[in-house]
Amino acid sequence: MDLGLKNRVALVAASSQGIGLATAEAFASEGCRVAMCARSQQALTAAAEKIRKRHTAEVFAEACDVTDAAAVERLVAAVAERFGGVDICVTNAGGPPAKGFLATTSDDWRRAIEANLLSAVYFARNVIPHMQGKRWGRIITLTSITTRQPVADLVLSNAVRTAVVGLVKSLANEFGKDGILVNNVGPGFTATERLKELAKSRSTASGKTEQEIFAGWAADAPLKRLGEPREIADTIVWLASERASYVTGQTVLVDGGMYKGL
Ligand SMILES: NC(=O)c1ccc[n+]([C@@H]2O[C@H](COP(=O)([O-])OP(=O)(O)OC[C@H]3O[C@@H](n4cnc5c(N)ncnc54)[C@H](OP(=O)(O)O)[C@@H]3O)[C@@H](O)[C@H]2O)c1
Repeated sequence: MDLGLKNRVALVAASSQGIGLATAEAFASEGCRVAMCARSQQALTAAAEKIRKRHTAEVFAEACDVTDAAAVERLVAAVAERFGGVDICVTNAGGPPAKGFLATTSDDWRRAIEANLLSAVYFARNVIPHMQGKRWGRIITLTSITTRQPVADLVLSNAVRTAVVGLVKSLANEFGKDGILVNNVGPGFTATERLKELAKSRSTASGKTEQEIFAGWAADAPLKRLGEPREIADTIVWLASERASYVTGQTVLVDGGMYKGL
């Protein structure tokens, strides 16, 4: 299947490891020019170099904290200057800590809102004018299964990420006329560093071993295993492609069937 993505400019936020990195690499493998960011320049440089070696893709990588509105504005401007625009933007950030509601502080809530809601706002408002100029664009928010089904002890994610769904639907409605498609991708439990942290925190709280925690997550999905970052990335790339040209305003879960609803 020709995805029609060759030479498109794909900006993938928070992409030095995990699902973001797999997504940046998947766009590179489709012939996109790729822009990446993360807070740690060292890890980002290494990740970008790995992609360049494997795919002979043009990769732009610059340190940026996605919770900093001015830094996101500078990043998007730098990408547009280097590549002549931004066609595809995948918003992403690290996930909030695992806590029950009474253990959360006001700072936890502020940080979660900044990382997991406002970062998407900052990217959207900076990339949309570039996309309007070309009458073509894709914005894909990388969130979580929590946008459809709450996860125990992830109250920060459960509450804050649903606001992203409202944002996605609103942007899809407002900018569809400009050829901009906006969708949300919600991973289920996916084998990354983030999941190791979650397993550690649940192990401490429950007295179960980390292996038991991982096994429980796998057992809860009809496919009886965790997801791989590449499986989330492939769905994001499909949504960005010409093959998903009539899909907008949707949440697509990539969760091995873990979502229990219809
Ligand atoms: N893995 C799962 O099972 C799963 C399931 C559902 C949802 N999710 C969500 O999907 C997203 C990606 O998950 P993941 O598992 O790939 O996470 P991960 O392995 O922890 O990777 C997070 C990436 O984001 C970067 N990052 C974090 N905070 C940032 C910030 N403020 N500004 C810029 N970059 C930032 C990190 O680099 P630096 O630290 O250098 O900035 C790193 O590259 C997270 O929001 C996570 O909660 C994950």
